[in-house]
Amino acid sequence: MIALGADHGGFYLKEAIKKYLEEKNIEYIDHGCYSEESVDYAIYAKKVADDVASGKCEKGILCCGTGIGISIAANKVKGIRAAVVTNEFCAEMTRRHNDANILAMGGRVIDAPTAVKLTDIFLNTEFEGDRHIRRIAQIAKIENGEEL
Ligand code: RB5
Repeated sequence: MIALGADHGGFYLKEAIKKYLEEKNIEYIDHGCYSEESVDYAIYAKKVADDVASGKCEKGILCCGTGIGISIAANKVKGIRAAVVTNEFCAEMTRRHNDANILAMGGRVIDAPTAVKLTDIFLNTEFEGDRHIRRIAQIAKIENGEEL
């Protein structure tokens, strides 16, 4: 199950991603927004991040104008590793090395076909583990206020 969310700046990317998920028979929850009317991105970041952090959804996808604000908000939820991605290399590497659990993209930065391609890479690339497990554990320690 994939959690989806967007503000008005990322709405059209989210709609294109929904179409891709439907074609691939991948289940999703659409947390909105549901139009291009101006809204506040943190609301949608929180809904998607909560679904991923709780395990209700295995991954999340968030879109705003740049992908930045919505990823910053999502990363405030414990256990979330949201990555803003604009190209195929970063979509692959953030799964392989960072085990990112939320993909963030910007509707004013990339077009819909690119967002769909990055989504496809993000959903189909495995975490490499190995030394990266240690590095992700360090991120979790920072989150818990522990020393590295
Ligand atoms: C909304 O205008 C815009 O600020 C938002 O979509 C996003 O780009 C913030 O980071």
